[in-house]
Amino acid sequence: MWTDTEMTRRLGIPYPIIQGPFGGGLSSARLLAAVSEAGGLGSFGANNLSADKITQVIDEIRTLTDKPFAINLSIPIEDSERLAINADVIKEVTTLLAPYYNQLGVQFPAVPDRFGQDFDAQMDAILAARPPVFSFVFGIPRTDVLQACRDRGILTCGTATTVDEAVAIDAAGVDFVVASGFEAGGHRGSFLKPAEESLMGTFALVPQVVRRVSIPVIAAGGIADGHGIAAAFALGAKAVQIGTAFLACDESGTEALHRERLFSARAGDTVLSRVFSGRLARGIRNEFIDEMRAHEVQLPQYPVQN
Ligand SMILES: Cc1cc2nc3c(=O)[nH]c(=O)nc-3n(C[C@H](O)[C@H](O)[C@H](O)COP(=O)(O)O)c2cc1C
Repeated sequence: MWTDTEMTRRLGIPYPIIQGPFGGGLSSARLLAAVSEAGGLGSFGANNLSADKITQVIDEIRTLTDKPFAINLSIPIEDSERLAINADVIKEVTTLLAPYYNQLGVQFPAVPDRFGQDFDAQMDAILAARPPVFSFVFGIPRTDVLQACRDRGILTCGTATTVDEAVAIDAAGVDFVVASGFEAGGHRGSFLKPAEESLMGTFALVPQVVRRVSIPVIAAGGIADGHGIAAAFALGAKAVQIGTAFLACDESGTEALHRERLFSARAGDTVLSRVFSGRLARGIRNEFIDEMRAHEVQLPQYPVQN
């Protein structure tokens, strides 16, 4: 049976289908619970949440389902929250973005004290709440963090965009690896080489990763139906992670305009761009992306631009 894999056995779930996490506020406990209740593994992207909020979200999830689920964080670039940001860069970016802020009638944000959440505090909240799975992107957690997960029976799952990243995740003792082809929606999770140099398609990436690692491989990127799932399994994947198709579901945290775009003809026109966050990400093409393309090099890196 296609459903009987190392993933379903270790997770104790009926279907090897993972609802990919969505960072930046698009995840919802309702979507996670709907997927986990239906027999898949629901995920929640908690990268933008404080430790207290993470505790609250996990409490809420547990009122909705008693099935396995995953909580996802991004691994910070060293000291990224304390990046010393040059005033000239802020001035330049303010000038570039001012027309958009004016058009939308919103205030330009003040430079914050820190640009991201405190990863160690987020991690403490996760370790205390013990979700069945902790998944991550943009790197590999420190050895002590992975050990703390193991000690608490929390399974871990990393994201790779290249074979080398998958090998590094396996070598670190992580339980599962997502092989994310460049078709995938959202940020490229690349961490060993620049994202622009880590753009392999799912069909090419998955079988190479399968050959090089000892842990179960989860295929992600461009999978949205049974044909895609069957293809991923033929390539050696033990599960699939589906993002965009779940983003379009009623239960997701997607805004009305975003949802409308997902169902429009424009949804077929996606591009990789770093103009929104400073990190390469796949999104539906729009005027902002097109107009900012010429200025990409002037924009600050993630997480400042974000
Ligand atoms: C809006 C959006 C946000 C995402 N945020 C995260 C995230 O925070 N962490 C993560 O590991 N993956 C994130 N992803 C990737 C998805 O979990 C999933 O791997 C990917 O969408 C699969 O490709 P597909 O969109 O072609 O199905 C995000 C994807 C989208 C579309």
